[in-house]
Formats: sequence, structure tokens, C-alpha cells
Amino acid sequence: MSTLLSSSIGTYSIRKNDTRSLGESRRTSRGGAFAYGEITFEALTQVILLTNIEPHSVMFDLGSGRGLAVIQTALTFPNLFSKCIGIEMISSLYHVSAAARDQLTDEEQKRVEFMQGDLFKVDWCNANLVFMAATCFDEGMMKSFACLAESKLKPGSKIISVSQKIPSQRFRVVHQDLYRMSWGNAQVYISELL
Ligand SMILES: C[S@@+](CC[C@H](N)C(=O)[O-])C[C@H]1O[C@@H](n2cnc3c(N)ncnc32)[C@H](O)[C@@H]1O
Repeated sequence: MSTLLSSSIGTYSIRKNDTRSLGESRRTSRGGAFAYGEITFEALTQVILLTNIEPHSVMFDLGSGRGLAVIQTALTFPNLFSKCIGIEMISSLYHVSAAARDQLTDEEQKRVEFMQGDLFKVDWCNANLVFMAATCFDEGMMKSFACLAESKLKPGSKIISVSQKIPSQRFRVVHQDLYRMSWGNAQVYISELL
């Protein structure tokens, strides 16, 4: 596990083998959809409070990495979220999140789930809140994601996206501001499906 993630000033490098096995096509000129960084605890807490999400909601983190945002959301807001689910494509990161889930109590584990898979293939239509750190997602990925989100989500569902707005007129930005990430500040958007 020690070679899994190499820490360097708040960012992490993913082993080359992991991205190689996924193919070059997902990497982009901006460093690739698989470059790694995380939202800070404070930023995620503040932003979730601003979503005004209804109690007993379902949260998905699309690209959940080590799973910290999912576990944090489930443990910090037990009344707001009945389930928090992370989808992560890179096997080594998924396994870190699964191991972190194993550390939770049985009750907490019932509300936390991780899946290894592609956010474009796994079903997340029951989400009321989607979190997506989209800093390294290219324009094509964002457009494909917007089409999927329009068709999958119920009106009123919210998306928290880091660095990029959802490129769709069916989403209205209800909040945006700069928040602290592990690599520095980034714009965060809360969008609502009309
Ligand atoms: C910037 S990290 C965010 C980690 C975590 N969500 C957070 O903010 O703390 C983005 C993650 O998205 C994952 N990812 C990129 N494309 C993906 C895809 N198509 N399906 C699932 N995960 C993907 C990457 O492997 C990476 O772990």
C-alpha cells in the first residue's frame, strides 16, 4: 500500500499502471481526468450546508478517489443523508476507500458504499446530491456528463461541481464561490436541475 499514493503538498500521484490499464483516451491536456486531489473537510462541510438538501437524501461522489468526501458526508450529516455512495474508476483508489469503509461501525457502513466503475456506466439516478471534482475533466466529459445528468436526475436534484459548471441550460447555478482544495483554491458551483 505504501506505493499506492505518494503524498506531495496536498496532491497525490496515482501509480502509472493504474492509468495505463484504463487507456490513454481518458487523459487530457490539462493533466488528465485521473490527476488526483481532494476537497478539504471545511470546504465540503460549508458547501453541503449551502445545498439546502432535504433530509434522507442520497449523495453520490462521482470520482470518489480515496473515499474521504463520501465518508465525511455520511458521518457529518447523518440526518441529511440516508446513503452516501462513491464511484471510482481506479482500482487502487477504490481499494483504499473500501478499506476505509471497513473501519466504520456496522451502522455507519449501512450508509456508506463504494463501487469501482466508470461514472458514465454506473447508475446514479437515485441521487439527490451529486458531488463531482471536475477539475481535470475535459469539455467532452463535461458535455457527456451534463446529458446524462439531465436524463437521470429528478428535477430539484443538486450537483456540487469543483472547477467547472455543468454545461447545460437545464441546470441553474444557485451558488458559486472559491473554496480550499488540497492543491489550492478552486471555484465550486452548486447547480439545481430545473
Ligand atoms: C480530483 S479526484 C477527487 C476525489 C474526491 N472526490 C475528492 O474530491 O476528495 C477525481 C477522481 O475522479 C476519478 N475519475 C476520473 N474519471 C472517472 C470516471 N470516468 N469514472 C469514475 N471515476 C473517475 C479519478 O480517478 C479521481 O480519483
